[in-house]
Amino acid sequence: MSVNQRIKPITTEIKENLTIGGCDTLELVKKYGSPLYVIDELTLRTICREYIDAFKNYPNITVLYASKALATSAIFKIVTSEGLGLDVVSGGEIYTAYKAGIPMDKLMFNGNNKQEWELETAVDVGVGRFSVDNFNDINLLGKITESRNKMVEVLLRITPGIDCHTHEYIQTGHLDSKFGFDLTQIDEAVSLILSKYPKISIRGLHAHIGSQIFDSAGYVDEAKILVSELVRINKKYNLSMDELNLGGGLGVKYTENDTPPDVKDIAEIVINTLNQEFDKNKLKDIKLYIEPGRSIISTSGVTLYTVGAIKQVPKGTKYVSVDGGMADNPRPAMYQAEYVCDVANKMNFEDKEIVTIAGRYCESGDILIKDILLPKLQAGDVICVYNTGAYNYSMASNYNRVQKIGMVLVNNSQSDIIVYRETLDDLISHDNIPDRLN
Ligand code: LLP
Repeated sequence: MSVNQRIKPITTEIKENLTIGGCDTLELVKKYGSPLYVIDELTLRTICREYIDAFKNYPNITVLYASKALATSAIFKIVTSEGLGLDVVSGGEIYTAYKAGIPMDKLMFNGNNKQEWELETAVDVGVGRFSVDNFNDINLLGKITESRNKMVEVLLRITPGIDCHTHEYIQTGHLDSKFGFDLTQIDEAVSLILSKYPKISIRGLHAHIGSQIFDSAGYVDEAKILVSELVRINKKYNLSMDELNLGGGLGVKYTENDTPPDVKDIAEIVINTLNQEFDKNKLKDIKLYIEPGRSIISTSGVTLYTVGAIKQVPKGTKYVSVDGGMADNPRPAMYQAEYVCDVANKMNFEDKEIVTIAGRYCESGDILIKDILLPKLQAGDVICVYNTGAYNYSMASNYNRVQKIGMVLVNNSQSDIIVYRETLDDLISHDNIPDRLN
């Protein structure tokens, strides 16, 4: 079983309380406050190793961690120390990597509306690859490379027209998409670069078919389309593109209903498909990239909350409110995402009831978990919501002017802060009162 097929971090143990990374979760809350994101280092390192191992039969692959899932300096240090590179999508992610001392050639810069300053920065610091998404990217990069007399190496992102069965908002590879060149536009993009921008070197093609994917069929179709386009374009323009990026998207197990495939199985299917297509087309030595985000970081993360108000609606729902919610985990409100939790200080309690875990934010939609069977709860209990490593902190907000919560890394019974909890002063630090209001 690979890490993405588990709901809980691999170090999860039940002692007197719930323990993760050898740390008692109640002690963590006591020491660092509540709510709290917790990342289990061993789970994170294990999935990184599982990816590297699963693709070891492919001679030339780089696994790029999709930073958008969770971008912090310490996380970048861990994943790159395991041999992964980084898929980045903003000046902020590039800056975080740069300041953390990550070699810039390990980065691939993606995004459908990269800003001019972001591209300039990326060129100046020497980002390894650019995934060119549209004509604006081409023209900006062309201008920047000319003015600096510097070459860049790019992949062209295409929209392969694959409809994968996932939530509508997280499908990206279907035809009517804001991402990438439509297959009918890709030739124009190649011609533009070749005719106008000699400092843009076209190294290959890129696609990303969606997120939280359970089915390998989409990857098979994608690999076939990418190879056939690579062959076609190389021939038509006499190019020697030799790189393919298949994007990310592998799913994780948020609840028992989720059935993500094993990383090894997906790798085998992808490698077999590619090898068949390469043989058919007499292609050799194609460099491969993949960009998993969620499946790398989700399972290693949990969020600890403390129970406050409890409301039993007469003949209705029993709402148990916790001290966090949609600002630290917007996924239930945004995507109807489902999570499961345990009561960290009542792991061995028998007496159970069905409750709804509500957030503290002023919105009826701020419900973290609907109808879950848990031990009888009271104020002060600590709830551990699993699989919150991906797209929680990275999409967190200050809604209701609440401080963003902190994050600790646990390993071998040791805990360290990797993101400080915001303070009240942090909240007002960017405010300004014009003189005329005083
Ligand atoms: N590569 C590209 C070009 C992407 O757009 C994405 C995700 C990834 C890689 C990583 O995909 P992953 O392996 O994490 O599925 N906020 C949403 C997910 C949005 C994903 C956007 N792109 C959520 O919380 O479910």
